[in-house]
Amino acid sequence: MILDPSRPPIKASTVIRNIGQLVTIAQQPIAGATGALQVISDAAIAVHEGVIVWIGSTDHVGPMFQNDAGTGSDGITIVDAQGVVVTPGFVDSHTHLVFAGDRAEEFHLRRAGVSYGELLAQGHGILTTVNATRNADTETLTELAIARLNSMRNYGATTVEAKTGYGLDMITEEACLRILNNLNALETSPAYEYSRVRVVPTFLGAHVVPPEYRGRRSAYVDLIVEEMLPSFVGLARFCDVFCEREAFTLDECRRILSRAKALGYALKIHADQLSSSGGAKLAAELGATSADHLDYAGDADLDGLRETGVVATLLPGCSYTLRSPYPPARRFIDRGLHVALATDFNPGTSYCENMQMMLGLAMSLMGMSLEEALQAATINGARALALQDVIGSIEVGKRCELALWSIRDYHEIGYHFGVNLIQSVLVVS
Ligand code: NIG
Ligand code: FE
Repeated sequence: MILDPSRPPIKASTVIRNIGQLVTIAQQPIAGATGALQVISDAAIAVHEGVIVWIGSTDHVGPMFQNDAGTGSDGITIVDAQGVVVTPGFVDSHTHLVFAGDRAEEFHLRRAGVSYGELLAQGHGILTTVNATRNADTETLTELAIARLNSMRNYGATTVEAKTGYGLDMITEEACLRILNNLNALETSPAYEYSRVRVVPTFLGAHVVPPEYRGRRSAYVDLIVEEMLPSFVGLARFCDVFCEREAFTLDECRRILSRAKALGYALKIHADQLSSSGGAKLAAELGATSADHLDYAGDADLDGLRETGVVATLLPGCSYTLRSPYPPARRFIDRGLHVALATDFNPGTSYCENMQMMLGLAMSLMGMSLEEALQAATINGARALALQDVIGSIEVGKRCELALWSIRDYHEIGYHFGVNLIQSVLVVS
């Protein structure tokens, strides 16, 4: 960016300089940036009130910024990035963050040949975790969620979507939603070792039918539609459903999501994960923000998603854990869909907080390029949360939420695997 001496100095509270490679993932061309990811070498960023106000070369930082009072550069925080790679923080757009207990036993049973669907049908799987979650107190659930969020942040996430779905009654679902909302309020609390990770809460009451409603599933759907959804307006941004043979039928999902939409929730669907269940079609029909999994979605389903602007969220951690085929990302990308990658962190199908692992799997086993994988984990994750105007790339006008990597060339991502390449995240407020 060329300095114009006639321009007044720019107000900034923080300037980050000496960024070896700034991988902006900008959606518009940026001056001085090159390549599909709009990378700037020796870059600097200026931030005011948490929003990026200037991006350019470290050489041009000079005296061009002034403090809030307009009295010069006193009080502006200068961060020296020491030549490392900087990308947008990861946007992990699909997690099941709040639950108690674990399912290690089932993991090893599956190694011996029992399937995930069989365990679920026998009343294990998700129901095992529902039982443990109902029996845990709020403090325990909060501590567990914070520890997981800290781990996600340490691997580079700055925004995490988080679903309920292990309560499945009014009291526990509401408690889980309040925990998720409180995590956002906790960000400045000295009580926790905690750095800001934005949490986007999703209500997943339609995860499975709880045991007390066995044999009268329509009464549980009534409870969701008539009591839970109206009560949780304002506590959850999204409503999600598990549309699957072992969970909820297409008609049940349509009823729940239609009501949610009328109440102002944005929509997500666990679609076509274990079988071709019609979830992707429903996502297109109702204008969901994202359809997730999509392992069994057909070509016509994908075209429907593209035409209605639904983001396809792919979750390689599930394929890794369930030893099932990886989602064919090329098919999605070549058909013009926006593809997001997320961890699907949960105790059953993907017990992993690490977005770098998802990038590695996507590049090694799903045919995605480094550029596609990075976009899928940042800007397309933001799209899957309808936050693409706020986060997901490093551009003037967006929030400054960065991942600082302990590497000097971003091509090391995916290549150097099995280690944590993130040095820290930096969220400027
Ligand atoms: O995304 N499919 C439904 N939900 C999770 C699994 C949850 C669990 O097994 O506890 C998923 O894979
Ligand atoms: Fe999930």
